[in-house]
Amino acid sequence: MRFDSKAAGYDQHAGPQREFAAQTASVILERAKSGGCVLELGAGTGALTRLLCGAGLRVLATDGSPAMQSLGQQAVPDAEWGVFDAFAAVPPAADLQVSSGLLQWAAQPLPVLGRWASALLPGGRMIHSFPCLPCLDEWRSIVPDGPLVWRDRGEWVAIFEEAGLEVVQECQWTRIVHYPGALDLVRSMHEGGMTGRTRMGTGGLRRAMREYGARFSQAGGVGATWVWQLIEARVSG
Ligand SMILES: C[S@@+](CC[C@H](N)C(=O)[O-])C[C@H]1O[C@@H](n2cnc3c(N)ncnc32)[C@H](O)[C@@H]1O
Repeated sequence: MRFDSKAAGYDQHAGPQREFAAQTASVILERAKSGGCVLELGAGTGALTRLLCGAGLRVLATDGSPAMQSLGQQAVPDAEWGVFDAFAAVPPAADLQVSSGLLQWAAQPLPVLGRWASALLPGGRMIHSFPCLPCLDEWRSIVPDGPLVWRDRGEWVAIFEEAGLEVVQECQWTRIVHYPGALDLVRSMHEGGMTGRTRMGTGGLRRAMREYGARFSQAGGVGATWVWQLIEARVSG
């Protein structure tokens, strides 16, 4: 992932992420106490933050990338902002901890979730949403290598439970996103900071895009399946 160096282009290429952030916000707003305080991890440029602040919540919004955090702060000045690496340290204590599009990037989600759980105040909840299998199945059927370890719905629930959390709500959203062509899909993943260093080279990438176009063309472009999972959890026991 290259969110810091690609921060300036993120918003332009993050249409699906914004839509899932909006769905995540509606779940959080059902749970949050009016006027309550929320800790957001991986807030990026503020897609979720904006909706939470707009609904009257007080948000401490954090991101590990200084560039993303700075753009978020400009876009949503009503939130309190800070740079925080959510995978390396215990987050600030909170009774509602949220994120959208962050947890899938953790190389080891189990200890990360253990630390996040340890920062919940008594009776506190976490609501985290993130892409899960079969997200972008079409692309991965052609290019199996990528920067993420993809997990399905059941695997994510099992990791939360293993981290000592009780899952109180879990749901999944699917959306078919249409791009003018395979190049636009690749560009959106790349310019949105979602890809690592590619091992396939320019020729391999061109072949992959040709195959994508041949297999997944639909009226007016190519389709890509986006799948997002939301888990609300509290400390077990
Ligand atoms: C896909 S973006 C989502 C941003 C925002 N939540 C949204 O919905 O548009 C992922 C965000 O996670 C941040 N991120 C990645 N690893 C992180 C870490 N270890 N700690 C904090 N933030 C991290 C990135 O900088 C990026 O802003």
